[in-house]
Amino acid sequence: MEPNIKLRVSQIEKSFPGVKALNKIDFSVRKGTVHALCGENGAGKSTLMKIINGIYKPDTGQIFIDEKPVKILNPIHARSYGIAMIAQELNYVPEMSIEENLFLGRLPVTKYGKVDWKLLRKKTIEFLSAEGLPYKPDQKLKTLTVSDIQMLEIIKAINNKAEIIVMDEPTSAITQREVDILFKKIEVLKSQGVSIVYISHKLDEVFQIADDITIFRDGTVVESHRASDLDMDKVIALMVGRKIENVYPKEEIKLGDKLLEIKDLCSTGVFKNINFHVSKGEIIGFAGLVGAGRTEVMRAIFGLDPITSGHIMKDGQKVEIKSVKDSIKNKMVMLTEDRRRYGIIPIRSVMENASISILEKIIYGGYAHEREERKIVGEYFSKMNVKTPSLETPIQSLSGGNQQKVLLAKWMLRNPDILILDEPTRGIDVGAKFEIYKLMSEMAKQNRAVIMVSSELPELIGMCDRIYVMNQGKITGELQKSEFCQESIMKYATSTI
Ligand SMILES: Nc1ncnc2c1ncn2[C@@H]1O[C@H](COP(=O)(O)OP(=O)(O)OP(=O)(O)O)[C@@H](O)[C@H]1O
Ligand SMILES: [Mg+2]
Repeated sequence: MEPNIKLRVSQIEKSFPGVKALNKIDFSVRKGTVHALCGENGAGKSTLMKIINGIYKPDTGQIFIDEKPVKILNPIHARSYGIAMIAQELNYVPEMSIEENLFLGRLPVTKYGKVDWKLLRKKTIEFLSAEGLPYKPDQKLKTLTVSDIQMLEIIKAINNKAEIIVMDEPTSAITQREVDILFKKIEVLKSQGVSIVYISHKLDEVFQIADDITIFRDGTVVESHRASDLDMDKVIALMVGRKIENVYPKEEIKLGDKLLEIKDLCSTGVFKNINFHVSKGEIIGFAGLVGAGRTEVMRAIFGLDPITSGHIMKDGQKVEIKSVKDSIKNKMVMLTEDRRRYGIIPIRSVMENASISILEKIIYGGYAHEREERKIVGEYFSKMNVKTPSLETPIQSLSGGNQQKVLLAKWMLRNPDILILDEPTRGIDVGAKFEIYKLMSEMAKQNRAVIMVSSELPELIGMCDRIYVMNQGKITGELQKSEFCQESIMKYATSTI
């Protein structure tokens, strides 16, 4: 056995109703190293990490820390073993303040056993200023963006003096600048002997920081190697068990008339003079740094947020969009970036999460026609390769990528003309990404239009016909396909005009 093993699991098994999530897992992490876990959506990565963090109990198997067998009962117990975890699906109470969130489970108390709010405030201020974070301690979490919340989670876990830190998709919602901050912190942690388990679908990140890589497939460990003995193609092949030829299935489509035109859209304090269009058969992209205003513009167009002035034209006609209902009536749909907050109805079944968009088709004459519902939804799921034990499974127990496919199916069931996708591939594996890209291409081929907001430049460049770049609530640049390059996008993304 290798010396310096900090964490080891042996023959771990875990089943959920209808799925064997983990099958005889052997896996170990060396002290002071970064060990990456790669695998498609639903491969079992998060399940194993939740077992290590005491959220789930394994059916069988053993966990060893410093080669001593341990039983981990719950996350607080895990912390006593020096384990901290940045969860994949950010778990927070929107109504809670930053200070409460930061010190959750370890709020300082006075000698009378009450929460010491003064000390809490002081500690929070110290913490925030040490990290250079511009938030107020009593700010509610619901006022922050996903990327702010993710950054807070990261910093919270890192500052916990943990010996093992599990990071489950830590960079899914943050920008390159913040990724760089995180990676610097990881280097420091490593040098202090901290072990890190790093889960990510972004393989370039994995190769940037991992010492070891373990590949999961369908609940088993396929292979485990030093990162230097692997390369990206090998990892992808091991993950999916097949080769993916062309990552971006973009086709040349002859563009038709303008389908959607946005004219001088303004929302005081949020965005200003937004002008853009998308034609039939076209895929356009929106690039920019987090906070540039891209999501806000899309939300306004989709009728979620009010606008101050400007208007929206569809097929050359002015349309009034004051609510999501108006938007759907105009055959425009939007996939949200914050799946957990706005997308899924966690405890309802995958079927209901999809069929909610077509209730009028399945509820009529005073009855819900379940057989039809099953048929329509089932067909779409198999077309999109949604992996679920059954149509009755609550959506919250699906892996992230499969939840995303269900939400996409929900909107595709409405047969939209315009599909707005806000960070559609966040936290999604290569196989599922490819299926989403294929669907975008399909839409374009049928003379419909796609608008994709993304922070991943390679996918914008790979899939779009044109890219708009935003910064500080304004469109600062527009690039034609022949002009696409990461540098010019970044230049516009930071320019002020
Ligand atoms: N609480 C649960 N109840 C039922 N099934 C579950 C539960 N949690 C996970 N599963 C199932 O276990 C399998 C493994 O899921 P897991 O979340 O570990 O995958 P993952 O590798 O983390 O995927 P992703 O990359 O999408 O995050 C999936 O089939 C998932 O649907
Ligand atoms: Mg996961």
